[in-house]
Amino acid sequence: MKLVITTKTKLTTKHISTFFKKLTLYEIDTAAQLEQESSKNPWSKKQLSESISNPNNVCYLLEVKSKIIGFIIAMPSVDSADILNLAVHKDFKRKGYGSSLIEYLSMNLKKRHIKTLFLEVRQGNFAAIALYLSLGFEEISIRKNYYAKNSNQLSIKEDGIIMRLEISTL
Ligand SMILES: CC(C)(COP(=O)(O)OP(=O)(O)OC[C@H]1O[C@@H](n2cnc3c(N)ncnc32)[C@H](O)[C@@H]1OP(=O)(O)O)[C@@H](O)C(=O)NCCC(=O)NCCS
Repeated sequence: MKLVITTKTKLTTKHISTFFKKLTLYEIDTAAQLEQESSKNPWSKKQLSESISNPNNVCYLLEVKSKIIGFIIAMPSVDSADILNLAVHKDFKRKGYGSSLIEYLSMNLKKRHIKTLFLEVRQGNFAAIALYLSLGFEEISIRKNYYAKNSNQLSIKEDGIIMRLEISTL
């Protein structure tokens, strides 16, 4: 079932209708393409498909004017959840959609009595870190040299930053 949420964009004061839906394997091709186009270190289609088909995971997509422009994947446990992936199409960045995906996820996780969100982000992913800080996430630890810098520079490592948010603050 689709849920219609009306959100305000920052570029205009008009209301734009957006649709949040469960992300399923039916959308895997679009999600994989979006991931490739939006991220500097994209997940492979196989990684995405394994994550989406894991019944424990919670996966949502965001449609704007019938176009899938973003998705979020999280893995809930007892009273917390890890955000595993989040992507917004390159043409739709800085319009509040990344924030709205996290807020929509949080709204649904609250109903499952989940109180805390965790995530891990590359130290060099400034856009994502800025987004998380803007929502109130706090850095709680660093995983030294956790990531390869990119697939061409496997020997150069990058730290991972672990962040936490108490959902009630959203
Ligand atoms: C990170 C990402 C999801 C952000 O999505 P988005 O829809 O552009 O984010 P929002 O528009 O909701 O941004 C909210 C706030 O975050 C901050 N922010 C987001 N992108 C930023 C950027 N490139 N530079 C500086 N601040 C940024 C700003 O404070 C922004 O508010 P503002 O636009 O009013 O200044 C998007 O850039 C993306 O898909 N990146 C590639 C995939 C990725 O890195 N995923 C995260 C993996 S951990």
